[in-house]
Amino acid sequence: MFYNCKDTAVPNYNNHAVLLFFKYFYRIYMHIIKTANVLSDYLTSIRRDNPKVTIGFVPTMGALHEGHASLVTESTSKSDITVCSIFVNPTQFGEAADLDNYPKPIEKDIELLMDNGCDILFLPDYNQVYPTSYVQQKFNLNDLDLKIEGASRPGHFQGVCNVLFRFFHIVKPDFAFFGQKDYQQSIVVKRLAELMDSAPEIVVVPIKREPHGLAMSSRNVRLSEKGKMNAAFIYKAITQLKEDTEDMALTDAVQKAKQFISAQKGARIDYLLAVDASTLNEVSHLEEADSIAVVTVVEYEGVRLLDNIILK
Ligand code: PAF
Repeated sequence: MFYNCKDTAVPNYNNHAVLLFFKYFYRIYMHIIKTANVLSDYLTSIRRDNPKVTIGFVPTMGALHEGHASLVTESTSKSDITVCSIFVNPTQFGEAADLDNYPKPIEKDIELLMDNGCDILFLPDYNQVYPTSYVQQKFNLNDLDLKIEGASRPGHFQGVCNVLFRFFHIVKPDFAFFGQKDYQQSIVVKRLAELMDSAPEIVVVPIKREPHGLAMSSRNVRLSEKGKMNAAFIYKAITQLKEDTEDMALTDAVQKAKQFISAQKGARIDYLLAVDASTLNEVSHLEEADSIAVVTVVEYEGVRLLDNIILK
């Protein structure tokens, strides 16, 4: 497989059939673009020549796994062209150490993207995403950014929104794909889309799990092999919780799940909450909201493991 790491060499798509040919071609020859203007001019020219073309966008921070692959696959099935980005966004990290230690296996990531049909990889450096003229914005996220994860990570979701705001302007996608694993992020991003004039449709893709149930995450590489197997207790707890709500009060079912997790050696619950799936406000009864999600973070072997399930 080959990829083109130059910012030029842009094929001239002049009709839909040619576009589809190139899409096939690109499965073995992904285009890598590092400059924001080059990417945006390229996509503008494709749209001009093919007014019906649809563009899907999968933003990532790299260290890709099968969960990301499922976002790319979803994008390729829904859109004519799939653009993925890899950019470790400093504005969403609280501690510099977390940012510095973030894994960057770029060759492996490129291979995964090519294997899953990504057409264009946007691989910018800091100045391409945040030129000196860019002023970090404070979005009105209806406090969605301050709850749950946001309570212990001040500024995190504003950072996520700033980078996506920039990407959505550069790529102008029709669809943007996010994993349900970061449930709060998906709700925050939907709010960002409401605030933007021409935002993409936000598509939330179900959680991809290891065979034993652990939600796939870039952080899982920090677990031991045994830890990875054992950590399936989180999924077991939340699926049992969902089942329990059929004949048990919600608060009792939540309590039971917490006790189950706390009984696992080495596990520490950061939070396990039943929330209104749209407002993220905590709920105590199933009747309190049209849709309810259970969100949890459990620390295990020193790794923060996120998971969630939709109850109704
Ligand atoms: O979910 C992530 O990997 C990041 O938060 C995102 C959406 C790529 C923004 O940096």
